[in-house]
Amino acid sequence: MNILVVGGGGREHAIIKKLRESARVTKIYALPGNGGIAADAECVDIGAKDIDGITRFAVENHIDFAVVAPDDPLVLGAVDSLEGAGIPCFGPDKKAAIIEGSKIFSKNLMKKYNIPTASYRTFTDMAAALEYVKTAPMPTVIKADGLALGKGAVIVENVEEAQKTVRAMMEERIFGESGASIVVEEFLTGPEVSVLAFTDGETLVPMVSSMDHKRALDGDAGLNTGGMGTVAPNPYYTEAVAAECMETIFLPTIRAMQAEGRPFKGCLYFGLMLTKDGPKVIEYNCRFGDPETQVVLPLLETDLLTIMEAVHDGTLSQVQVDFAKECACCVILASKGYPGKYETGFAITVPDNLKAQVFFAGARRQDGKLYSAGGRVLGVTARAATLQGAIDAAYAAADQIAFANAYCRRDIGQRALQALSCGAQ
Ligand code: AMP
Ligand code: GLY
Repeated sequence: MNILVVGGGGREHAIIKKLRESARVTKIYALPGNGGIAADAECVDIGAKDIDGITRFAVENHIDFAVVAPDDPLVLGAVDSLEGAGIPCFGPDKKAAIIEGSKIFSKNLMKKYNIPTASYRTFTDMAAALEYVKTAPMPTVIKADGLALGKGAVIVENVEEAQKTVRAMMEERIFGESGASIVVEEFLTGPEVSVLAFTDGETLVPMVSSMDHKRALDGDAGLNTGGMGTVAPNPYYTEAVAAECMETIFLPTIRAMQAEGRPFKGCLYFGLMLTKDGPKVIEYNCRFGDPETQVVLPLLETDLLTIMEAVHDGTLSQVQVDFAKECACCVILASKGYPGKYETGFAITVPDNLKAQVFFAGARRQDGKLYSAGGRVLGVTARAATLQGAIDAAYAAADQIAFANAYCRRDIGQRALQALSCGAQ
């Protein structure tokens, strides 16, 4: 089968590597992919937001199945366009992708269907928002309504900061139109868990849980990034917590989307916080998370294409989805300075016999050699029977990969190890 994967980061590389394991896959195109992905798929220089270009390419190249991975094309309606042209897809249509595309939509959905989440107020009028934050309990969380490259949530400690943030979003439009409306919500505390789930709109199958590390520096210091590493499974996500989430969050969410006439098909990402009052939703994403996918898919034992086709066909209940009973750790190698300013264009060397998988994000290829070309350059994922073993193997492999100005966090998985030693599971 001819497969098309839309996107060009570490997540897409992990999806492509997993799809390549399927005997039925003959050819994979990545749009646009990147220089590292080029070893596993044919990369075509069509941007992930160029919906018409993607659809034209898919039709002209007789694509049998398409996977739309990033948020932007999903929210813009890439799946509607491809399906309209007769190409079966994995991913939600535009109507369902709004669960990530609008925080106000998702907050209102949770309220209407009693799905536990932080209490909140929404604003389209800046004066009203500025007035409200004067008396809001601090800290508080301010979020742009629309997509903001994962940077649209700001935790503020006092009224001054809150008003500055409201102005930055609503007046200065630092996130563009995404800040035309905002959500101001209660600050929650507790361990965070990411759960990705396959769903065909009726049946929902959670994947192995994971833990992201969003801050740039060790000890969760520094700025928020797109994610500096992940481990799976997440030790805080015990069987009891999983059962509670299924009952109070996962199933109610897919039923709510059905009831709203927006059945969700694809990968639904639940960003959860385990609070004293039980698990609550921090955010929904309408897609695989990055870098969560880089630990979750390497543990998947079932044929990914079979699952994706079943999600499309509405037959997920007939597929047995299995994950290895092992642990995985992914360490991101980034360019020094990320998520701020950084330099790129440095040659990347990866030894041949690495005992880990490498997923490329910000890499380009020139004359057969790889060069750094972005903030997050690559992810290194290792599997082992224990979490400690996976962490050690991931760092051992990461330390063998070299490019100038590379940096990584050295403490990926440490919090999970501490949780294990405290008996979280
Ligand atoms: P989001 O963009 O909604 O995923 O938020 C990014 C990060 O901000 C989350 O992973 C949390 O660490 C933090 N965060 C978001 N909402 C809240 C909240 N209501 N309370 C505490 N932390 C939050
Ligand atoms: N790792 C968080 C995200 O993919 O949005």
